[in-house]
Amino acid sequence: MKRSLLITAFIVILVLAAVTLTISLTSSSEVMGTQADEEASDVPFWKTSIIYQAYPRSISDELPDGTGDLVGITSKVDYLRDLGVGVVWLSPIYESPMKDFGYDISNYTAIDPIFGDMDDFDELVARFHEHGLKVVMDFVPNHSSDQHEWFQKSVRREEPYTDYYVWADPKGTDDDGSPIPPNNWLSVFRGSAWQWNEERGQFFFHQFLASQPDLNFRTPAVREDMQKILTFWLDKGVDGFRVDAITFLFEVKDLTLNEPEVPGSEDPDDYASLNHIYTTGLPETFPVIRDWRVLLDQYPDKLLMLEVYSNNMETLMKYYGNETYPLGDFPFNFLLIDHLKNRSELTGESLRTTVGLWLDNLPKGKWPNWVLGNHDVGRVASRVGEDLVDALNMVILLLPGTPVTYYGEEIGMLDTFISWEDTQDPQGCHWGPDHYQEHSRDPARTPMQWDESKFAGFTTANSTWLPVNPNYKTLNVAAQILAQTSHLKIYRELAVLRREEVFMKSNVSFPVITKDIFTFMRHLESYEQYLVVVNLSQKPVEVNLLQNTTQELPQKANVVMRSITDTSENTKPGMEVPLDKLPLTAGEGMVLTLSSEV
Ligand code: GLC
Repeated sequence: MKRSLLITAFIVILVLAAVTLTISLTSSSEVMGTQADEEASDVPFWKTSIIYQAYPRSISDELPDGTGDLVGITSKVDYLRDLGVGVVWLSPIYESPMKDFGYDISNYTAIDPIFGDMDDFDELVARFHEHGLKVVMDFVPNHSSDQHEWFQKSVRREEPYTDYYVWADPKGTDDDGSPIPPNNWLSVFRGSAWQWNEERGQFFFHQFLASQPDLNFRTPAVREDMQKILTFWLDKGVDGFRVDAITFLFEVKDLTLNEPEVPGSEDPDDYASLNHIYTTGLPETFPVIRDWRVLLDQYPDKLLMLEVYSNNMETLMKYYGNETYPLGDFPFNFLLIDHLKNRSELTGESLRTTVGLWLDNLPKGKWPNWVLGNHDVGRVASRVGEDLVDALNMVILLLPGTPVTYYGEEIGMLDTFISWEDTQDPQGCHWGPDHYQEHSRDPARTPMQWDESKFAGFTTANSTWLPVNPNYKTLNVAAQILAQTSHLKIYRELAVLRREEVFMKSNVSFPVITKDIFTFMRHLESYEQYLVVVNLSQKPVEVNLLQNTTQELPQKANVVMRSITDTSENTKPGMEVPLDKLPLTAGEGMVLTLSSEV
C-alpha cells in the first residue's frame, strides 16, 4: 500500500517536472505572440484581419475629376473582399483646404466635396459591412486647418475658443521691429514652428504646416469637442480610428524653453536638428488616449491604432497601456520601415532583430502588428527591391499579429518619379527644387494601377492629381489576375492561409538565421507546422537548413507557395524539397509545411 502510494507520488512529481520543463523550454525558445487560449468568438476582428490603408485620392475616381473619391472606393469592395483584407482604413476624407491633403481639417464631421458627400460615405460603410469589411477612419486631433471656424474664432479671441490653440507672445522684436518667436521649436516640415498672427498680435504654434495650427489639449473644451467628434462617427457605425500624430499632442507649459540642439547638425531649419523633448511624447498624452479608449469601449469591438514614431521601445510600448489601463490596441510598428531603410540594411540577422524587438518588448496580453509602408514613406518595393515583394508579404501576413498593407503593395507598386513642377506634397515643396526628391511623399501616393487602359483605369478624366506610374501598362491588377503567377495571387493565397488556426493561435520560433537567410516557424500541437524561409541576399542560394538550426527540422518539407521570381521545376507548390539543399532565388520567400516525423 505504502509502496504504491510512493510510486504514485513519484509519477506525479515526474509528470509535474516534465510539464515545468516543457513550459520553460517553450518560453525560452519561442516568442509569445498570441494568446493561444483565446476562444475564436472572443477574438476582436482586428486580430484576425488584414488592415488595408486606402489613400482616398488615389484609389479610384468615379466622379471623375482626376482625384479619387468615396464612390470610387465603394466600387472596389469586391476587389478588397477578394484580396482577403478585413479592415479598410481611410486616410482623411473630411472637409479640408487640402494643404496637407486632408490632414488639415476644417470640419471634422463633414465630407470634403472632392471625395463626395455624407450619403456616399454612408453607402460606403453599408456596402463594406454587407461584404464583411470593417471601416476605420483617420482621426487628426493634434491640429486643425487654419480655415476651421475654431481657429478663426480663436484669432478673434471669441469665447470659448480663445485658448483652443497654442498662442504665445513674442520674445521681443528684432532690429526691423519684427516679433521674435518665443522659442526655437521647429516644424516637422522645416523652419520655425511659430507663425505670427497680426490680428491677434500673438504667435501660434504649428508642429506641421502654418496652415495646420496645433490645438491646445490643455483646454478641456478641446478635449470635449474631440470626444463629440469620435461619438459622431461611432454613431455612424465606423469600426475604429487611426489616430494621427499622437506624439505631438502636448507641449510643455513653459513656452520660453528652447529644445536642445542635436550635436553636429548643420541645417538649423531641419526638424532633425533639435531633440524634441518639450514637444513630443509628453505624459499628459496618455490620459487623453485613455478617455478615447473608454469612449470606444462603450461600443462593441472598436479598433484604436496610434501613429507613433520613436526609436525607444519603452516609449513605443507605453501607447499600448496595460491590462488594467488599456490605451491603443496598438501603436503602429514602423520598425520594418525605420530599421530596414534599404537593401543593404536588410539581412536575415537584422530582420530577426527587428522582428524580435517588437515581440520581445510587447506588454503582457498585447498584440503585435507589422507595417511595410504608408503614405509618408517610399514604397517598399522601391526601398528594398522588387524581388522581395512576395517574401515580405509572407513575413507580415504569417507572423503572429496584424499586418497593415498600404494600397498597391499587394501588386508591388513602385515609387513614381514626380518632377518638381508636378510636386504637390508640402513636405517636398518646403525643401525646394534641389532637395524635394529626398523628402517628397508624392512618389508613393500615385493612382492605383488597375489595368492597362488610359490612366491605369483610375479615372476617365483628362488628367490625374499626381501622374500615374508609367509602368502601369504591365504592373496592374488586371494583368496580375490574368498571369499564372503574380504578387497579387501570392497575396490572396497568403490572406487565405493566414486564417488557418495555426497562424491565429500558435507561437513563433526562428530556427535558422544567417546573414542571407531569415526563417520562422509557426507550430501548434496537432496542427500542420509551417516554415517560412526568406533569402534576403541579392543572389540565388542553396541553403542547408539542417545546419546552424536551433530546432530539429525534418529532412524534407513540402512547398506551399514561393515568390514569383522562382520558376524552377523542382520547387513548385505541392512538391517535396530537401531542407539540407533548398534552392532559393534572390529575394525569394518560400512557405513550407513540415512532415510530422522529425
Ligand atoms: C501624420 C500623417 C502625415 C501628415 C502629418 C500631419 O504624420 O501621416 O501624412 O502630414 O501627420 O498631419
